[in-house]
Amino acid sequence: MDDLRLLVGDLRRQLERHVRAGAWAARAGSPTRAAGPEVAVPVTEPSVDTPRRTLAQIRDELGECQRCKLHATRTKLVFGNGAEDAALMFVGEAPGADEDRIGDPFVGKAGELLDKMIEAMGWTRPTVYVANILKSRPPGNRNPQPDEVAACIPFLWAQIDAIRPRIIVALGRPAANGLLGRDAPISALRGRFHDARGYKVLPTFHPAYLLREPERKRDVWTDLKLVIVELDRLGIRSPHPPKT
Ligand code: URA
Repeated sequence: MDDLRLLVGDLRRQLERHVRAGAWAARAGSPTRAAGPEVAVPVTEPSVDTPRRTLAQIRDELGECQRCKLHATRTKLVFGNGAEDAALMFVGEAPGADEDRIGDPFVGKAGELLDKMIEAMGWTRPTVYVANILKSRPPGNRNPQPDEVAACIPFLWAQIDAIRPRIIVALGRPAANGLLGRDAPISALRGRFHDARGYKVLPTFHPAYLLREPERKRDVWTDLKLVIVELDRLGIRSPHPPKT
């Protein structure tokens, strides 16, 4: 019983630190909202029976990919980057102009905001993994088309199976629907955990949307607090707790 009390106190203190650090989200909301998910979290474990390749093998297999029409207009293929054994993974939609030029995910303005979100959670870019549904930029940043998603997503799943993250944050509608095999508005999916092939997926709004609608940052912080609580419940501590 004493152990339990100590654990609860420890978790509460850690959460309070996280909430204080969540200053990027205007009026971050009350810490009591973070006390636990309102919807039961699926308990299924990551899929361990699929043949597992390393990230380097998956990258080799992709090569200079020409599996969909986007190869004709892209500059650089954007594979993804971060920790190979990340407990926490973020999946976006597709590379934009900056990512296409540089070859890394989320390096533009939306990426700067994603960095702030990650840091508010007590993590950093090198300690999480970041990838997209598509590895090539759709011209003019249009939405991914079904044939492009079908060609590309097996490689994302291979990356996920290589990393085996405990939680995947899906950023925006195409990422959430791609991972969940759904076609639903992000507002209907966000704010609770979903199961996708045994992985816990938490959909939330895309950082690019937050740049246009900053008042939704509060909703995103509410969602990210669910991730913080669930990682704590799984016994996973952030490597860089925010300064108090
Ligand atoms: N938006 C995305 O969805 N992914 C990126 O890598 C950059 C912007």
